[in-house]
Amino acid sequence: METPVNQEKRQTAAQTEEDGNNAARVQEVVRAEKVKKTVLIVGASSGIGYETALRLIGRNYNVVNISRTPCPLERVKNYAADVTVGSTLEKAIRTIGEKAEAIHALVYCAGFSMAAPIEYADPKDYRYLFEVNFFGAMRAIRSVLPFMKKRGGRIVLISSMAGLFPVAFDGFYSASKAALDMLAKSADIELAPFNIRVTSVQPGGTSTSFTFKRKVYPDEDNKEYSSRVNKATAALANMEQGGLNAGEVARIVADILAMKKPPHEIQCGKRNKFYAFAGRVLPENFSLYLNRKMYKQ
Ligand SMILES: NC(=O)c1ccc[n+]([C@@H]2O[C@H](COP(=O)([O-])OP(=O)(O)OC[C@H]3O[C@@H](n4cnc5c(N)ncnc54)[C@H](OP(=O)(O)O)[C@@H]3O)[C@@H](O)[C@H]2O)c1
Repeated sequence: METPVNQEKRQTAAQTEEDGNNAARVQEVVRAEKVKKTVLIVGASSGIGYETALRLIGRNYNVVNISRTPCPLERVKNYAADVTVGSTLEKAIRTIGEKAEAIHALVYCAGFSMAAPIEYADPKDYRYLFEVNFFGAMRAIRSVLPFMKKRGGRIVLISSMAGLFPVAFDGFYSASKAALDMLAKSADIELAPFNIRVTSVQPGGTSTSFTFKRKVYPDEDNKEYSSRVNKATAALANMEQGGLNAGEVARIVADILAMKKPPHEIQCGKRNKFYAFAGRVLPENFSLYLNRKMYKQ
């Protein structure tokens, strides 16, 4: 039979062990709270990517950017890379992944657009466009996965309403965004068992410097199409500069990163949601007629 002295000793030892376990658990929680989730944005030097970085810093994420010029926000760590040069992009993502314990999310914002007729567009230009808008995203996804698979994560690809509806004389852009949407859906199916969800965010025209970076061919290169190219390009520029605020798109992206079950795709703003719905229910010929009107064709 246990003596009262031994019983007291045993109870004290058990209590000490429990206190130790509790202290370890508290320390673990404090550490987990301190370790911020890392989000990698490709293209946070301006526009939607920049606004997304700003918002994510506000939500206490550790934000890392890859672009050719740096993101000017003090709390963003920059890595310089051109997404069209696979080796530099992959190397930057490997370095980021090895430094952070894991990458929680990838937001791919890099984009390029051009205005030229299909007949005369330079293959170098439309191949470059696909490198930035589509293959760059593909490379970024493939490179980030080793650092995301263990704990799960979120991938957001910034697509466009142009992936749902054609943009006259920017057909290469529309085609690249439609391809990106399909990549997002396929990747979401493949990666769901790793708790990695993929969403394509489809902004409509958004007021950023994107409009002014568009590669527009001079009239002499567009030949007999020139006046129609100019009308379409002007209509597109008006739509963008009078359109969404980049901060609105950024808020949607930030919300997606926190969702348990994010959608496969999402349009930004009531008007674009309505257009997407109309595009699904209207006869295609009517929808294309409206589209031609929109771009003055
Ligand atoms: N603005 C709109 O009306 C609109 C509408 C729908 C969808 N979108 C899409 O939204 C995304 C963001 O566009 P935005 O309006 O925010 O344009 P933006 O201000 O021009 O931002 C584009 C970002 O992509 C980066 N980028 C471009 N080419 C790159 C390359 N070769 N290598 C690395 N980074 C590159 C740029 O960084 P560096 O130049 O420093 O490399 C910049 O950070 C794009 O995918 C665009 O297609 C825009």
